[in-house]
Amino acid sequence: MNQSTFPAGPSGYPVIGCFPQFVRDPIGFLHASARAYGTLTHVRMLGRDYYLVSDPQDIEELLVRQSNKIRKDEFTRRTLSRVLGKGLVTSEDELWRKQRRLVSFAFTPVRIRSYADVMVTCAARELQNWRAGSVFNLHEAMSRLTLDVVAATLFAAEVDDTARQVAHDISVFNEYLANSPEALLNLPLNLPTPRLRRFTAALRSMDGILFRLIAERRAQPQAGRDLLSALLEACDADGTRMNDQQLRDECVTLFIAGHETTALALVHAFHLLATHPEVERRFRAELTSVLGGRAPSYEDFKALPYTTAILKESLRLYPPVWVLGREVKEPLSLHGYALAPSAQLLFSPYIVHRDSRYFPEPEAFRPERWEALTDTQSETNLPKLAYFPFGGGPRVCIGNHFAMLEAVLLMAAVGQQVRFELQPRSQLQFSPAVTLRPKGSGVLARAHRL
Ligand code: HEM
Repeated sequence: MNQSTFPAGPSGYPVIGCFPQFVRDPIGFLHASARAYGTLTHVRMLGRDYYLVSDPQDIEELLVRQSNKIRKDEFTRRTLSRVLGKGLVTSEDELWRKQRRLVSFAFTPVRIRSYADVMVTCAARELQNWRAGSVFNLHEAMSRLTLDVVAATLFAAEVDDTARQVAHDISVFNEYLANSPEALLNLPLNLPTPRLRRFTAALRSMDGILFRLIAERRAQPQAGRDLLSALLEACDADGTRMNDQQLRDECVTLFIAGHETTALALVHAFHLLATHPEVERRFRAELTSVLGGRAPSYEDFKALPYTTAILKESLRLYPPVWVLGREVKEPLSLHGYALAPSAQLLFSPYIVHRDSRYFPEPEAFRPERWEALTDTQSETNLPKLAYFPFGGGPRVCIGNHFAMLEAVLLMAAVGQQVRFELQPRSQLQFSPAVTLRPKGSGVLARAHRL
């Protein structure tokens, strides 16, 4: 047992450790550290010990087998919870277990299937707004589209009049969460900085909208139509249901967790398509042969294996949740090193997905890796957590099947009508925060009608 020492890792400055290198380029710094020091790397930052864990077996050990000894990281518990309250992403222990059971009623295969047409309708609505030949910001457009999908599936039609306000409130949350000093330093919300004022106003506005929608729905139940109905109907074995505050927290969580991630998956996939003409040609050939010009539906999901492979490969190269953070709750040991309570654990799909032991030529965009094998075969050929864009263990993404269906249908619905031509300087460069967001003005593309 190697009780007193740490695994190797980059050396940093006194007190602040490697914080400056991390803040300057989080992905580049962690990736270079893993390459230099191996699959268990120690990084000291701001007086804390971080362990970057990059071997799939070790990740499985911690996220799956020892999951009861870890909890969500400090940023999630302290800062993200200001927006999400005690929703599924931020809650822990008994509350999380109870809520996971209840929220899963909203994500049964039958329910997910029933959202397919809504997803395609949202795509058609968004496409109507794009003028042929116009240049626009792909990230903004995809975020609008996936927010529309979450709103339509969560609240059926009710949010039409408030959609603009919800979109605005969420963009303010994102501005706060994406590396703002106020969030990083966890400044009290009553400090009068302009960003905190905007943030608390957006929280009030979002709460007002959600509590109104929940009250209206309680007064007039509409069995089975949308996710909110499922959440309202969800009933635990002991007969308990969610109260309004818990419903509010789960709704905000689904809004935030459900739209930005899928939007980024689409941005990355369309970017990769635009820069790989041969893949784009096969993509279009599949759309033509399967759909022949008609709108996609649930039945087409399984009939679009190449589109699915493109998406899986984009999620491999550019996983929207590029790093998962945890904190050690009870003493743990890994490869003879003692991980003490309060140590921070980092698991990065971005880094692990570039391990050439599992993905030959890891930097190459090759959807064919996934295509040759059926879903189950390709996943079983890999160690369980060599590919984990949706996380793993008990906290795995509850929306993963919803997201795959949504992303494939939206790619098909958009891709059969439009081809994107990237504008100069639209390389994929990131300004990673909680998610892998495009840097600066984002990805600009010209939409050509087909
Ligand atoms: C491509 C799209 C998506 C990606 C890449 C993604 C990724 C992830 C990841 C990696 C986690 C685990 C985080 C952790 O362990 O710390 C997660 C959790 C979660 N995701 Fe997703 N997600 C996507 C879409 C969605 C959608 C569409 C929804 C809902 C409509 C959703 C709802 C959630 C929720 C509620 C959790 C928390 C689950 C729990 O802790 O029990 N996600 N997601």
